[in-house]
Amino acid sequence: MIRYIILLICVCVVLAQFKRGKPRRKSAKPRWDCTDIVDGLYIGDCLNFYRCKNETTEHLPCPGNLVVNERQMWCDYKDLVPPPCGTAPNCTGIIDGNYPDYTRKCQYYYTCLHDDFYGYTKCAANLLFNPEKNNCDWPFLVKPPCGDAAESVYPVKPDRVG
Ligand SMILES: *[C@@H]1O[C@H](CO)[C@@H](O)[C@H](O)[C@H]1NC(C)=O
Ligand SMILES: *[C@@H]1O[C@H](CO)[C@@H](O)[C@H](O)[C@H]1NC(C)=O
Repeated sequence: MIRYIILLICVCVVLAQFKRGKPRRKSAKPRWDCTDIVDGLYIGDCLNFYRCKNETTEHLPCPGNLVVNERQMWCDYKDLVPPPCGTAPNCTGIIDGNYPDYTRKCQYYYTCLHDDFYGYTKCAANLLFNPEKNNCDWPFLVKPPCGDAAESVYPVKPDRVG
């Protein structure tokens, strides 16, 4: 019996080491103490990274108005970082795809992928994002609120009539 317990403890220790060795990109808990922590870059909170090296802690605050971008592991503009640290769209639970940025009148669209915000893309001059085509398009072919296309601008396919 005691042998199994020892074996179990060993397995747990090995698992714990393994877990610590992986890059912790989604570290939610602030952890500023590098004692017993594998070398690497960690998130402190929305405004701070810290780097562990040989169990010493180097504090890396984000400069200026920048906040922690958890996906990229760098400091970034607030409007490019999803909540809670920034003001970018919250893609959690959103179907993968491109979405119009209504705050900029659809001159931009943003991409959600795997529940993550993947940045904004600007349409070419004078075009607006058309969600129906998943592409940038002439304003007269884009429905309101961004464009001024009438509801009937797209011909209905015969198999969808009725
Ligand atoms: C890490 O720190 C310990 C104690 O501070 C020191 O003895 C050791 O040489 C250091 N190792 C490296 C690789 O810097
Ligand atoms: C993001 O959206 C999800 C799904 O609606 C929600 O559960 C979560 O609380 C939101 N996160 C923030 C920080 O608003």
